[in-house]
This record gives sequence, C-alpha cells and structure tokens, in this order.
Amino acid sequence: SIDAKVKTLLSKMTLEEKIGQMNQYNGFWDVTGPTPSTGDAAKKYEDLRKGYVGSMLNVRGVENVRAVQKIAVEESRLGIPLIIGFDLIHGYKTLSPIPLAESASWDLDAIKHAAEVAALEASAAGINWTFAPMVDISRDARWGRVMEGAGEDPYLGSLIAQARVHGFQGDDLSKPNTLAACAKHFAGYGFVEGGKEYNTVDVGTSTLYNVVFPPFKAAVDADVKTFMNAFNLLNGIPSTGNTFLQRNILKGTWDFKGFVVSDWASIEEMRKHGFAKDMKQAAEIAANAGCDMDMESDAYVIELAALVKEGKVSEAVIDEAVSRILKVKYELGLFDDPYKYCDEEREKSVVGSQDIQNAVLDMAKKSIVLLKNENQLLPLKKQGQNIAVIGKLAQDKTSPLGSWRLAADNGTAVSFLEGMKAYPDNTITFAKGADVTAEEPSFTKEIKINTTDKSGFDDAIKTAKQADVVVMVLGEHAFESGEARSRTKLGLPGVQQELLEAVFAVNKNMVLVLNNGRPLTIPWAAEHVPAIVEAWQLGTQSGNAIAQVLYGDYNPSGKLPVTFPRTVGQVPMFYNHNQTGRPTPKNPGDVFWSHYIDVENTPLYPFGFGLSYTTFEYSNLEVSKSGDNSFKVSFDLKNTGAIAGKETAQVYIRDLVASVVRPVKELKGFKQVTLEPGETKNITITLTDKELGFFDNDGNYLVEPGEFKIFVGGSSDTELEVSITL
Ligand code: IFM
Repeated sequence: SIDAKVKTLLSKMTLEEKIGQMNQYNGFWDVTGPTPSTGDAAKKYEDLRKGYVGSMLNVRGVENVRAVQKIAVEESRLGIPLIIGFDLIHGYKTLSPIPLAESASWDLDAIKHAAEVAALEASAAGINWTFAPMVDISRDARWGRVMEGAGEDPYLGSLIAQARVHGFQGDDLSKPNTLAACAKHFAGYGFVEGGKEYNTVDVGTSTLYNVVFPPFKAAVDADVKTFMNAFNLLNGIPSTGNTFLQRNILKGTWDFKGFVVSDWASIEEMRKHGFAKDMKQAAEIAANAGCDMDMESDAYVIELAALVKEGKVSEAVIDEAVSRILKVKYELGLFDDPYKYCDEEREKSVVGSQDIQNAVLDMAKKSIVLLKNENQLLPLKKQGQNIAVIGKLAQDKTSPLGSWRLAADNGTAVSFLEGMKAYPDNTITFAKGADVTAEEPSFTKEIKINTTDKSGFDDAIKTAKQADVVVMVLGEHAFESGEARSRTKLGLPGVQQELLEAVFAVNKNMVLVLNNGRPLTIPWAAEHVPAIVEAWQLGTQSGNAIAQVLYGDYNPSGKLPVTFPRTVGQVPMFYNHNQTGRPTPKNPGDVFWSHYIDVENTPLYPFGFGLSYTTFEYSNLEVSKSGDNSFKVSFDLKNTGAIAGKETAQVYIRDLVASVVRPVKELKGFKQVTLEPGETKNITITLTDKELGFFDNDGNYLVEPGEFKIFVGGSSDTELEVSITL
C-alpha cells in the first residue's frame, strides 16, 4: 500500500532529507542553461542535488520540468521526485473565463470540465499540482481577488469547489492528464478588513463555521489533495501559524489526509505580523501548527533541523508532514514514472488544441450574464446594421485573458472587435473613446488607474451619431482586479463614465458590455442604458463568446454569483445577511430603523440575478414532507417567451427562529432547466438535514425544529414562498 511505501521510504531518510521534502522553491534559474555557480541560484541548485527540495513552483514546460526533475531523481541520494506546482487558476495557455465568471454559469458540469481541460493542458506541459481552486467566500467587491473565487455564497461556493477539485483531480490521480488540486486560502482571506489586500481578518464564529468553512470542508469531502494557508491574521493569529485551523479543524475534525503548503513567504511574514520574533521562531510555530510545506520563506530548510535538535519541533511533526507530502507524490504516480508529465510530443499536440479552444468558448458563453434588455434591443440583427463599437477594451487582446494567468501570452485573446467581425453582414466602426488605465498594466506592475485623457471623445461621438446601434465595451482592465488590486471605488475607472454619458447623449440605442473582475457600481447605466451585458474577463475565446451572445446564437443564461451594490458605501453587501432588530420603518417617515439616509437598502442587481432572451414564469409552489427532516419542494417553471432558453431555478430557505440567528435567505438548491417556448416543467428539489441545519458557535451541526420559509425564483429576489414546520 501507499502508506507502507511511505513508511519504508521515510525510514531511509536523514532528518535533512525529510526537511527537504517540506521545502518548496520558486523556479530560480534558467534550468536548461548552464548550472549556476554563484549566489542564491547556486545554493538552491545544490539543495536540489542534495535532496533538500520537495517541490518547485513556476517551472513550466516539458523541457524545464524535465531538467529539474532529472536533478532531483538522478542526482540526489534517494531520488525522490519533485511535485511541480503552478497557479492554474483558469487555465494554462488557453484560458477559460476568470473563476468568478465561470461561477456565474452555475453550471457544475461545465465548471468541472473547464478544470479538467486546464489539467489536461497543464499536465501536458509538465505540471502536476495546481494552486487552485481558491474557495474563499468574498463579500467585499473592493477586494481584488473576488475575481478568483466563486462569489459570496457558501452553498454555491461549496458545489463549485467540489466541481473544480473533481475536474482537476479526475477519478484517478495517477493518470498523466490529472493534477493534485489545492483548496486555498485557509482561512478567511475573503474577509480582509475594508477589502484591502493582505489586511487583518476578524470574523465571528458563526460566520466562520457557516460561511467561511463550508467550501473548504466540501473540498476535503471531494478528496482534495492539498490545502494552502493564508497571508492574513484570523482573529489575531496568522493562518500560517494557526493550530486551531490546521490541526484542530482541518487535520482533526475534518480528517484531511493531504498536506498543507504555506502561501508565498507567509511563514516569514509572521515576523512582520508580530507573531514570531525571528525566522527560527516562525518556522517552529508554522511546523507545530500543521503547515507541512514552506513556499519561499526558506524558513524550514534553514531552521528546522536545529529546532528538532533543540526539541522545539518533534521529529514526529516532521515525519507526519513528510508522510503527507510523499503520499501525494505516490498517488500522482511520480515514483513509478517521474517523467510522466514530460512528453514533448504530447505537449505539442495538447497545448492550445482545438478541443481546448472549444471547451473554453463553451464555458465563456455560459458565463455571460444579461443584466438588462429593454425593448428587446438584443439580440442584434445580423444584417444591414451600422454598429459603432466604442471603448478601448473592445480591441484589447490581452485584458480578456483575465488576471492570474502566468503562462498565457499577452495578446492571445480573441478581442471583442474580432468576435463581432465574424458576422460580416453588418458594418462595424470602431472608436477607442478613452483609455481604461493611464498606461498598459501588467501583473507585476503597480497600476496607474486614473486617466483624464478625453481626446478620443469627439471621434467616439461622431462614430456613435452615424450608427444604428452603439456597443460600448467598458470596465476594468484585467489587471485592475486580482491579487493586490483592491479598490476604494467601484465605478467605471478613469473617464469611462463620462464617455458613456457623452455617447449616450447622441445615440440612446446602446448596449453596454461590461468587462470586470468584480461587481461594479453602475447606477447611471442601470437607469439609462437599455441593454447591459456582464462579460467579465472571459479568457482566450472572449470576443467570440460575447459576439455569439449579442447576436443571439447563444441565449444568455448566467446568474450573478455576487451582489452588485448601488454604491461602494453599501459594501460589504450580500444577500444572506442577518436581520436587524429594526429592518423596516414602523410608519412612513420613521427615522430609527436600519438604513442609510442617502441610498435605499436594496442592491442594484441581486445575487442569483440574470436575464435571458426569453422569459420564465414560476408557479404552483408546494412543499410536502418526504421523510424525517426531509421536504420535497415542487414548482412549475414555464418558458413564456418566444425562443428556447435555460433558466437556473433557485430555492432559498429561512429558519425563522433559531438558537443562533439565521440569515434572511440562504440558497439551498438549484436546477438548470432548458425549456422550449411555451413549455412548462415541474421541478422538484429535496431539502434534508444537510440543507436545513447550521453550525452553532462551538462548531456543532444542529437541525432545530420550528418554522421555515421556503422561497423559489430566478434570483435571490424570489417570486414565490411558503412556510413549513420542521
Ligand atoms: O498560489 C498563490 C497564492 O494564491 C498567492 N501567493 C502566491 C501563491 C503561489 O503563486
């Protein structure tokens, strides 16, 4: 068995070799060039040769991976293969939509397939471990990494976490086209104060158990092989040094059998937090708290051996960590064939293949959300139209790739303009209008967000005046969201809002296509512009996907996985909030109730919202008992429009009185149904203990008797409701 093999290997290892397995280095020199003889790279090369490196990240491509693997396997004493990690967040070279956009599809099979395809492409390029999925729930659109998760809801987030883990890992990890997945960042990173990157997190126990933890637990249930801890403090304790999180919850209560990697230098950063006095103490705290592998702090490789000799870290702690790491390497089949991901022929035929392009196009279409469509302005007519396309993002072939993509080359996306030109019977005229950022942004460069240049306005206005329809492509550049891209304003960056209003003044026949990695506040557009399409950053096939939706070759079916607030002042804004003691005014004009005096309490677009080119009607909601603590929710869904369409029917509950107050609504089930015009289907969704209970503040799962409300509809702003008693 694998456990026996691990034990045998462990018994042959020196302490230093064991600690080596717990050490991960970033790709540190041109591995196919000459061996470094001086400096940091030479020291790391030497460590590799000695067997003091268990993993490398950011080495990619068969030639490079083979080169480092060869040193580990053929030059180190025990020849233990490396596990090769990479941030495969939404694809390798061929990109799927950003994860938030994929989540808007609510299509678990499609999301699983997107991860499968990402694994297929990356594993052909030598990679066997991805630092994904990010399963952090996020409620604050100011945080840049909102783009990397599944949004604000723990139920949807848990299902998506599982779909992604299953997609990456497949049903057999030893196959050469699957990878080990990593649930990150454990825990609470999505709750950074003020949405500011790397900031402190303080969350109460109820939120921790009921909102933050569920997607992580779901990933464990899906047999995720690894976890990454987080940069942030959680209630005063850094996640990386957090025994409660890593030992008590993850490896204890949840019985997780894989290994935990730190985030980049997060062991070392415990010094800066004021939790460890030096690197040595940081290594001691992290290892004892259950962090098995050190990413880029060099703390373990330098400090752990002395700590063991001094008795501050027991050899049992080391053995446990190393066993977990070796187990995953055995499961991947790396000991049978360390070069199994290193097949040049396979790399050539798989990376960028047509099948992968088709898969990301399919995912991109499913990710688009139609927010508004007055007077059926959409779909556009395919012939005889003079269409003005305005906005710098329309011609951008880089921004649609999204943030968090390290292997895809700039300029490899199908731009919106290219997608539109695939429909040749209309005349397309383009005007840039305005830049989105002051200079071309990149992943590693500080962003210059403010542009004031309006010199393109006149041309845009002239172009719009002559058009039958204007399509404005506005929003954020991809690198305005992602890691370290927190914002305090959520409107259209730069002068784009002014451009929008100036163009609208001359042509009101307008479609606004939004590109963004987070919810934006667009109250003016929501009020005035007749058609709005949320197109996020959709990856390599972006332009084709948007054009096919605008022309009606794909009927949009996405639903928002996050609430869109009216103004940044409402943030954090999420549908599943608790009820205050004063939720509404007693009488018109009352002052002392829970509200802002300058904006209404509702969002601009609620969680779960999204339109179609057809319309749907919900009716006949019935709830019947189907067993102990089990209810069958049944309702009719009718396509009342003129074309076929797909609807995501959603079921929410509210537990009216509970020993820990429950949110006003909680998503507990959904079904996607395709209906022909005029067709009605009866839909049933069963609610059981699993959906009706909650965690108390000691982490116990309770199902309490009493009255529940059941709501049904096409968004969290539901249409039907009934009461039941448990
Ligand atoms: O996986 C990432 C993590 O999400 C943020 N810090 C760096 C890691 C490795 O690139």
